[in-house]
Amino acid sequence: MALSLALVGCGSMGSALLKGWLTLPDSKKRFEHFWIIAPHRGSVSPFLYDERVQWFSSPSQLSKTPDLIVFAVKPARLSEILPAYKPFETLVVSVAAGKQISFYEALLSPRARVVRAMPNLPVSVRQGVIGFYAHATLSAIERARLETAFKELGLIFWVGSDDEIDKMTALIGSGPAYVFYLMEGFIEAALSLGFSESAALKISLQTFLGASTYASFSQTSPKSLRKKVTSPQGTTAEALKVLERGHVYTLLKDAVKAAYKRARELAHEGESL
Ligand SMILES: NC(=O)c1ccc[n+]([C@@H]2O[C@H](COP(=O)([O-])OP(=O)(O)OC[C@H]3O[C@@H](n4cnc5c(N)ncnc54)[C@H](OP(=O)(O)O)[C@@H]3O)[C@@H](O)[C@H]2O)c1
Repeated sequence: MALSLALVGCGSMGSALLKGWLTLPDSKKRFEHFWIIAPHRGSVSPFLYDERVQWFSSPSQLSKTPDLIVFAVKPARLSEILPAYKPFETLVVSVAAGKQISFYEALLSPRARVVRAMPNLPVSVRQGVIGFYAHATLSAIERARLETAFKELGLIFWVGSDDEIDKMTALIGSGPAYVFYLMEGFIEAALSLGFSESAALKISLQTFLGASTYASFSQTSPKSLRKKVTSPQGTTAEALKVLERGHVYTLLKDAVKAAYKRARELAHEGESL
């Protein structure tokens, strides 16, 4: 059965999900309606070309309970936003960082079924990674409904606790930003060698895409692949010595830990709103 999906919030993540859903090859089989609830029509207008997409400024305008409600709003806004969704006894997915399942259960209908999800922006091009956490009591039918909505937007991982979703937030949700940051550095390096901005961007994009695609088709680990590129006394060996002197691995580990710590702090932010 094709789903009626309500998406609350159509900012960076909401619109990435919507773009992914609309461009799935079997999108029309999976989704009958996309009801987008957002304060401003402007964020939804790029998607109104599809007749299944409708914009609403408030959930009270929905004439029917959606099969699935996806919250893609800032964590600090949730305590103000969720009470308007209490009448809906349905499956609810929140992509918000930090807020635990018990937080939603306290504000939504006792008959709502809450799932935490942690996607990343590449869901927009169906190359995302998505972590899910729900209570073990989530029924097979509800899991199947989730699968219908999210499969093929990216690689799916189920975890067993709120804490693991917070860890996934640091890896999956924030992960693309770490890669973009490295790409920015790569572009800076190309510019410093005298390449034009356009060439630096193209070289950076294709090197990251090529290396990642090559690694995903390869039977060996990134470590072995890196060794294959590194001949003793060669150019790569000289470059890697510089990265090792800068303790880049340690910095990455510290960065991920800082994001995880921040995800845990977000659990308690905005509760006084
Ligand atoms: N961005 C990412 O890469 C990423 C990754 C994983 C998870 N997340 C999670 O996704 C959530 C959204 O993040 P984001 O980056 O997409 O933020 P964002 O770009 O600021 O989008 C949030 C959207 O919520 C809308 N909004 C505000 N009040 C609303 C209401 N009462 N009802 C419906 N929509 C409302 C805002 O609309 P206006 O702008 O018109 O006010 C805005 O478009 C966060 O909880 C974040 O933790 C984000």
